Amino acid sequence: MFKIRFYRPEDIDQVQRLNRVFLPEHYPPYFFDENFRRFPKAFIVAEGPNKTLVGYVMCRVERGFTRGGMFNMGHILSIAVDKGFRRMGIGTSLMLEAEKNLVNEYKADFIYLEVRVSNKPAINLYKKLGYEFLGVMPSYYHDGEDGYLMYKITSARTSKNDVKALLGDRIK
Ligand code: COA
Repeated sequence: MFKIRFYRPEDIDQVQRLNRVFLPEHYPPYFFDENFRRFPKAFIVAEGPNKTLVGYVMCRVERGFTRGGMFNMGHILSIAVDKGFRRMGIGTSLMLEAEKNLVNEYKADFIYLEVRVSNKPAINLYKKLGYEFLGVMPSYYHDGEDGYLMYKITSARTSKNDVKALLGDRIK
């Protein structure tokens, strides 16, 4: 029905289309290129009928230092599934593949993301995958909407206090 695979540079037009049509936050091509160049195994697409792309997730890994040491923070930057293909498990499959590679390939200690407080479908997806709320980021989006910062711990050495120490200054 759909195939999950790594992003390839020739996918850029289709991924940009999905980004423009289905998300209010748009990125220039170099942002996609740069994340692919640095973290190719954390940029995943879903192929639908006739190999058309029907979804993508793009991530990166950031490094953070706190009292507990150095941490690798997986960051889900952008995810979208074509409207005609939702509620079929594609979002879940994209997230699971990205998470697996963030942890196994890039040694993410935890994974975090931002989501609009009004975005019930995405919040439900993340909760179902085990993400928890760290807090609210007031007026995080360009139109003034608040965002939730959500996280999921993926290594035994990491605690919620570590996540708070690293990202707590972003929330209210
Ligand atoms: N209402 C409520 N919960 C929903 C939902 C909806 N419309 N769509 C998905 N969910 C939740 C459900 O818990 C669902 O599990 P269930 O179907 O067993 O109830 C779970 O998410 C997994 O759904 P799945 O089919 O894997 O997700 P999807 O392929 O439909 O993709 C999004 C989910 C969020 C990626 C998709 O709705 C989307 O592209 N939205 C627009 C872009 C966007 O908002 N991206 C996130 C920005 S942070």
